[in-house]
Amino acid sequence: MRHIISIGDFDREWIDSLLDHADRIDGKQYDSHALGGKILAVLFFEPSTRTRLSFESAIARLGGTSLTVGSVEACSIAKGETLADTIRVVSGYADAIVIRHPKEGAARLASEFSTVPVINAGDGAGQHPSQTLLDLYTIRQSMPIEGIDIALIGDLRYGRTAHSLASALSHYNARLHTLCPRGLELPETLSTRLAEKGMEIIPHENITDIIPEVDVLYVTRVQRERFPDSASYFNVSSSYRITPELLSDAKKHLIVLHPLPRVDEIDPRVDEMPHAKYFEQSRNGVPVRMAMLLQVMQ
Ligand code: NCD
Repeated sequence: MRHIISIGDFDREWIDSLLDHADRIDGKQYDSHALGGKILAVLFFEPSTRTRLSFESAIARLGGTSLTVGSVEACSIAKGETLADTIRVVSGYADAIVIRHPKEGAARLASEFSTVPVINAGDGAGQHPSQTLLDLYTIRQSMPIEGIDIALIGDLRYGRTAHSLASALSHYNARLHTLCPRGLELPETLSTRLAEKGMEIIPHENITDIIPEVDVLYVTRVQRERFPDSASYFNVSSSYRITPELLSDAKKHLIVLHPLPRVDEIDPRVDEMPHAKYFEQSRNGVPVRMAMLLQVMQ
């Protein structure tokens, strides 16, 4: 049994082979009954559009079905049941569990009580491995990942997609350029670990300095729900906005990615530019999550 909790648990060979598999799936090379009769439990205790629907689409395309709990209020956690008990019970109803939870470490905890594979679909400000795999898949569609210069922009403190992606990129000799509002820097434990792995991390203060330097701009939303109060959120929200004017200095092959949802970090006029890849990125969630489900459920 293989859980997928943190991207740091996997090596480059595993990641590359999963992305190769997703490529074959995208080219329609898969058995649409491969997971026939299998059930995926989708336990989302935080809002989601893309992750939940693309996991549900993925299991359906492979012939399986899903059981969904849409909110904390709708299940027995609202009656005081522990996550451990919920997971013990759900393990008896499904062949794998996808979980999103507001607390960091929740998916790891779930994996300790589950008798079926657990996939982390986001644990608080922790990790988001399925997003990272589709981010890498999208980069690879435009350029080799090896040796890229990538900018992580936005909320690097609470943004789990940025944490997971930065970890994965340490396998690919990427150079990490960072730009964030003061106080929203990458957690020190993570940046130290990345530096120990030999990753070069270059902090920037100005968006105009970063754009001409990089191959990939990875833009993130300030994670409002993780702030202690709304005043501290409004102090740092709307710090950066990617516009067509700013991108006039970009390398021709630069791609703009965003895990979505966006608030105001990317001007909608950018959507029409060849640099914009964020809607393709969200579409890539389906083949990548199909490959993940086949990996843990077959
Ligand atoms: C991200 C998440 O939930 O961490 N969304 C997603 O899964 N595509 C990013 C975000 O909410 O900002």
